[in-house]
Amino acid sequence: MKPKDKHIVVLKPSALQNLFLGELLSISTLTELQSLYIKYLGRNGEVNKLLSNLSRRELKERANFGREINSLKSQISEKIEKKRRDLKEIQTVNLSKEWFDATHPSIKPPLGHLHLVTYAIREITAIFEKIGFVRVSYPEADYDWYAFESLNMPKNHPARDEWETFFVDLPPFQKLGEVVLTPHTSNGQVREMERIGTPPVRMVNIAKCFRRQSDVSHSPMFHQFEGLAIDRNISIADLKGTLDYFAREYFGKERKTRIRPFHFQFTEPSFEVDVSCDLCAGSGCRMCKEGWLEIGGAGMVHPGVLKNGKIDPDKYTGFAFGWGVERVLLMKAGLNIPDLRMLYTTDLRFLEQF
Ligand code: PHE
Repeated sequence: MKPKDKHIVVLKPSALQNLFLGELLSISTLTELQSLYIKYLGRNGEVNKLLSNLSRRELKERANFGREINSLKSQISEKIEKKRRDLKEIQTVNLSKEWFDATHPSIKPPLGHLHLVTYAIREITAIFEKIGFVRVSYPEADYDWYAFESLNMPKNHPARDEWETFFVDLPPFQKLGEVVLTPHTSNGQVREMERIGTPPVRMVNIAKCFRRQSDVSHSPMFHQFEGLAIDRNISIADLKGTLDYFAREYFGKERKTRIRPFHFQFTEPSFEVDVSCDLCAGSGCRMCKEGWLEIGGAGMVHPGVLKNGKIDPDKYTGFAFGWGVERVLLMKAGLNIPDLRMLYTTDLRFLEQF
């Protein structure tokens, strides 16, 4: 710098650049940006001031200094251009916000609903709760003892074949035996007797069941609901009354049940229960057998089973029934589902119909 100019402070281009960047940060409108442009790049702007000071520099410095100023100038104008584009974009977005129409019909978000089987379970539960039954849930993988032995089906008993059981690959427990995936909800019978101790017992056990079978009316996983009532003087009339009550509540006022002799190891006597057909009201049609649809098993609790549950069969009697949730659901009037397994597909086009 020449000695006579000592009192003039001339900013270096890099210092000016810092100042500019600092100011640019606080700019939020196009008008402010325009002022910034004039301040730095205008005819009397900071950059030109630097240029006019060039002549005051030593000759050998001038070339370098000049190059620095030029690059600063193009950097500033690039940054201003970029900021201008950004601000314009924000402005358009804001503009479109101003035009947002809150009354415009929107696209409805998809709304799901509970699964059909869940609805059925809730409905069945509510029906039995009304007459004092308590909903319980027992293990869906249980010991052989609860699923078979305590129900008068010792190991290798041929009656077990009907239950086409899945076994869990575990070493057997000494008294309770192997672990199985419950093939019916009757595993809840002795468990409930143990829980309650002294009757009255009134349970409805609803749980998943598993059997090695798959066709239009069977899926390897399904649900059953098991009723159990034990008290003094419980008779077949109580069982029949309860079955009729369920049929009326679940299927409709006009529906009735009938019981036919059958055999289960854990009930004596045992019955198969039918519900009157909805289509022909009991007179017989193509959908039913002579006016009746088979619904499931029932019977009077076998004294041996009561003993296994530490209940004295000389004092108490009881009835039990176990039916398929999917089966009653499909039988309900108006639901014409050709294959039970469809309930367990994930095809929304099917499930959304209900
Ligand atoms: N557990 C029997 C079945 O799965 C049904 C049943 C339950 C029968 C209770 C009698 C009493 O078929």
